[in-house]
Amino acid sequence: MNKRVTVNKLVEMKQNGDKITMLTAYDYITSGLLDELGIDIILVGDSLGMVVLGYETTLPVTMEEMLHHTRAVARAAKRSMVVGDMPFMSYQISPEEALYNAGRFLKEADAQAIKLEGGEEICPMVSKMVEVGIPVMGHLGVTPQSVHQMGGYGVQGREEEAAKKMISDAKALEKTGAFSIVLEKIPSALAKKITKTIGIPTIGIGAGPHCDGQVLVTQDLLGMFEKFVPKFVKQYAKLSDDIRSAISSYIKEVKSGEFPGEEHSF
Ligand code: KIV
Repeated sequence: MNKRVTVNKLVEMKQNGDKITMLTAYDYITSGLLDELGIDIILVGDSLGMVVLGYETTLPVTMEEMLHHTRAVARAAKRSMVVGDMPFMSYQISPEEALYNAGRFLKEADAQAIKLEGGEEICPMVSKMVEVGIPVMGHLGVTPQSVHQMGGYGVQGREEEAAKKMISDAKALEKTGAFSIVLEKIPSALAKKITKTIGIPTIGIGAGPHCDGQVLVTQDLLGMFEKFVPKFVKQYAKLSDDIRSAISSYIKEVKSGEFPGEEHSF
């Protein structure tokens, strides 16, 4: 069996210029496929809220929902690193509460790391986690848990001041001990600068080609989530059309008596 992807391996990949692949999963079957195919990191993102649970934003997602789905993903992932996404208000109140909730992802759900959104302001939380040996992935740029503060999901870091702040946030996260940072929906040039400035890997989504790795929501890539397709998504399949066609055939055949046939009967 291949060895599990570790934080050291990811830093080594950055140093060697090997691109890191990350995708989301929320269930056992998808996780097993991603693991078998050699995805480096499986993120149990709080995008779970929109993709699987039908919420309008990620804000209502709870710790219990995240742990439930992280457990299912972890059961299938033998080689990929499993990262659990900390939901809104599970880490913002105090470093102690953040530490307790981060620990639950490793202790109760078998994740190898956690992810949280924010820069310098969340470093006291990151520091507590790193101190006890919990690997932390940061997340800058569009941080969907701050959707109401950002006024939507528009590109972040276009203005000079905002770009400077993001670079300083990335440095602060690295200094505090984060092992990688997701950069979401920021200009390519800024992502390139951050990637060159810090020694830990950057993983981009809508952040151009210069990051050390890329992440997408798996259902976006497979053409399953049709509510909204962002510009940064490449659809490698149109699975919702395939599902429609398969389910329509099933309905037709059950109605007509064609299914089940002799070969499906005892
Ligand atoms: O929740 C999520 O899926 C994410 C990725 C899009 C990075 O945070």
